[in-house]
Amino acid sequence: MSTTGTHKILICLGSSCYSRGNADNLTLIKDYLDENGLDASIDFRGHLCSETCNKGPVIEIDETEYEGVTQSNIHSILANHL
Ligand code: FES
Repeated sequence: MSTTGTHKILICLGSSCYSRGNADNLTLIKDYLDENGLDASIDFRGHLCSETCNKGPVIEIDETEYEGVTQSNIHSILANHL
């Protein structure tokens, strides 16, 4: 558990995840952080393929990996975790 209150979000920007949904998820996450005033307290980064493409699109929040992240479940993942 973080003592600083800072969450870390990693989004896979490898070609498989990116083309299968993370291009849209990237925008949705940015918008969510912006709308909820969270930009300053979240460390949001992209990373390259983590070789779990078959389970993608993949994002990771505070060491928890989420697989099959889509436009329909991204908001509930963010709301539950942040
Ligand atoms: S492209 Fe995301 S895990 Fe491979």
